[in-house]
Amino acid sequence: MRAPRKTPTRKIAPDIAARLSHRFSLQMQPDGNIAVFLGDYSVNLGQFSAAAMDRARHLGTGLPLASFAGKSILAREIDALVHRLARKGLLEYRLSSSRNTQDFVIIEPQVPDYWPRRAKLGKRDTVVLSRFAYLRRRGNEMVLESPRAGALFRIGDPAIAATLAALSQPQKIGKLDQKMASSTLHLLELLLDCQILLKLDAKDGQGLRVNEGDGNLVLWDFHDLVFHTRSTEGRQANPVGAAFTYASVVPPSPAVRPPWAGSRVDLRTFSSPAEPNSLLRKLLRERHSTRDFDDKNPVTLGELAQFLDTTARVVSEWKSEPYFEGGSEVAYSARPYPSAGSAYELELYLTVANCDGLARGLYHYDAGSHALVAISASAQQLQALSVAAQFAMDAPGQPQILITIAARFGRVSWKYSSIAYSLILKNVGCLIQTFYLAATDMGLGGCAIGTTNIDLFAKMTELELHIEGPVGQFALGRGKKPEVQR
Ligand SMILES: Cc1cc2nc3c(=O)[nH]c(=O)nc-3n(C[C@H](O)[C@H](O)[C@H](O)COP(=O)(O)O)c2cc1C
Repeated sequence: MRAPRKTPTRKIAPDIAARLSHRFSLQMQPDGNIAVFLGDYSVNLGQFSAAAMDRARHLGTGLPLASFAGKSILAREIDALVHRLARKGLLEYRLSSSRNTQDFVIIEPQVPDYWPRRAKLGKRDTVVLSRFAYLRRRGNEMVLESPRAGALFRIGDPAIAATLAALSQPQKIGKLDQKMASSTLHLLELLLDCQILLKLDAKDGQGLRVNEGDGNLVLWDFHDLVFHTRSTEGRQANPVGAAFTYASVVPPSPAVRPPWAGSRVDLRTFSSPAEPNSLLRKLLRERHSTRDFDDKNPVTLGELAQFLDTTARVVSEWKSEPYFEGGSEVAYSARPYPSAGSAYELELYLTVANCDGLARGLYHYDAGSHALVAISASAQQLQALSVAAQFAMDAPGQPQILITIAARFGRVSWKYSSIAYSLILKNVGCLIQTFYLAATDMGLGGCAIGTTNIDLFAKMTELELHIEGPVGQFALGRGKKPEVQR
C-alpha cells in the first residue's frame, strides 16, 4: 500500500486573517481575562496583558496571521489565544485579495486542528481538482467542500469558480498564472494543502482516479465518502444529533403510518398471541435499550467472551473461485449475523472502562482466533470516546464496554460500486440487533449509539479514515435494576 504523498508546506500565509465566527463575541474583563460568548453561554480563554487584549479586539474583523508570527511576548500571547479559539472551532479565516477588498474567500475549519497552510506550488507544477471536491449553494453563499478536507471554502468571487471549472482538467500553474491574481495562487496552495487540489507528477499516467491517494481511496465513490464524513462527528463542523433544525417549519411524521384505503385482511384473527414457547419471540419482546449500568457489579471477562463468541466470532472460512480471468481466489468467512456479499468487513474495537477481569484500555477483537488484542491509546482519547458515548445516550455514567464497529471499507467496495457504503450500514444494523438479542439473552444491557467521532478514532488507532473507520457503536454492560425503559 502506497503511503499518502506529503507536500511541503509553508507556515505563514501573509494575506490570511483569523476572524471570530459571527455567532460569537469576545468580552475583555477588568481582571485581564478574555471570555468568548455565544448568547448566554461563555467560555473563559485565560488571562492576557492589556496590549494583547487591545490586539485581540481586531479578531472581530480579522487579525492577519502574519501579525503574530514573531517571537515577541505579545505575538506569543496572541498566538496562544488564537490557537485556543481555533481548537474550540470558533474561528474562520479570511483570504484577502488586492483586487477586491470584500471577502474574497472565507475558510471555515471542519476539524479542530485545522490551520491554514499553503502547500508550495511552482510554475512547473500541474494540478487538478480532486474528484471528491464539490461546489454548492449553501444559503446565499457558494461553498467549496471535500470530504477529505479539514476546511471548507466560502467563495465570494465568481472568478474563482471559473478557475475551479478550468481545473477539472490538469493545468500547469505557469499557464494558469498569467491570468491569475496572486491571491488566487495562494488560494490554490491552500486548496492543495486541504487535498481539494491534487498535484500530478510527470509519471502519473494511469488516470486521475488511480493517482489520487492509495488503493483504498481508489475504491471509494464520491457520494459514499461524502456520506461517511458528513453523517457523523469528527470531520465536519455542522451540528450533529437531535438538533430539531426544521421542527418549527415541518411537523413530525406520525409514529405509525396512516393505513392505505384498500381492502384489509385482519391478521389478528390468524395469529394467536400465544406461541408461548418461542424463545425468539420472548427475546424480541424483552429486548430494550439500557443506558444506566451497575458499576459496582460490572460485566465480567467471561461474559464478554461469551457475548463475542455468540455474536461475532468467525464460524468457518472458505475460498471462492476467482471472479475474473487472471484474478485470485477470494477468502470468505461465516459469522453468526448476515453480511452483504458475505463480506464480513466489520471489526470490533472495545473501549473497556469497567470489566471484571480485563484491564481498562482499547482492544481489537480478533474474530478469527477469538482473542482480544490490546492497542495503545492515550487515556484522554479513551475518555473522550467514552464520554461522547455517555453524552449520546444522555446516560448517568460511561458504558462499561463501548464497542466501536469499524468497517474495512475496501472489503465491500472492491466488489460493490455505488452501493458499498449503504450495504455497510445495513450490515451494522444486522450486527447491532444481534448484539441486542445476545445481551438480552445473557441478562446484560446494551444500547446502540448513532454517532461516532471518526477523526478521534483515526487518531487513536492511526488508521486512515478511508481505510478502516467507525460506522456504528454499541454500549454494553450490566444494567442497573430496575432498568429504565424509554
Ligand atoms: C441505529 C440506532 C441508533 C441509536 N442511537 C442512539 C443514541 O445515539 N443514543 C441513545 O440513547 N439511543 C440510541 N438508540 C436506541 C434507541 O433510542 C432505541 O432503540 C429506541 O428508543 C427504542 O427503544 P428500545 O431499544 O428500548 O426498544 C439507537 C438505536 C438504533 C437502532
